[in-house]
Amino acid sequence: MKIVVIQGPNLNMLGIRDQNIYGPMKLEDIHSQMKGFADKNQIDIEFFQSNLEGEIVDRIQECIGDADGIIINPAAYTHTSIAIRDALSAVQLPAIEVHLSNIHQREEFRHTSLTAPVCAGQIVGMGPFGYHLAMVGMTQILNEVKAMKQAQQAQQQMQNQAKQ
Ligand code: DQA
Repeated sequence: MKIVVIQGPNLNMLGIRDQNIYGPMKLEDIHSQMKGFADKNQIDIEFFQSNLEGEIVDRIQECIGDADGIIINPAAYTHTSIAIRDALSAVQLPAIEVHLSNIHQREEFRHTSLTAPVCAGQIVGMGPFGYHLAMVGMTQILNEVKAMKQAQQAQQQMQNQAKQ
């Protein structure tokens, strides 16, 4: 089971940037907590941060055949990027959108997410803990997908045996 974590523009500035909104924690500390959870649960995890929209689109596309799920904070691109939305939709992998701040409590231009409608779920306003919640949620989704595939395989085997 592999999860790719994709972080959008300015999230490399966490710990320096708007601490009153995003808190003091650095991105690398958030990632090391996520890695701890992944290791305990036998999950492969990879982290990617970019300030460039096209690089984020490329990384999402590269998830095909490589990852089982995506955790993404598209940051400001959440509110503007049809390209990132289309990429998330195209890869057909479960994705969870995370925002440190409660975007619905902030300026009106942050209330709309172009990406959330193509995600399995959205976690907002929980600070860095939101990424932990996303890990728990993604693990649950991937376990359900695995159980469903196993049930389908078992049913197919039974059908094949009945034909013989
Ligand atoms: C953010 C919210 C966005 O509106 C903002 O542009 C960000 C961070 C968050 O995590 O709260 O860069 O995605």
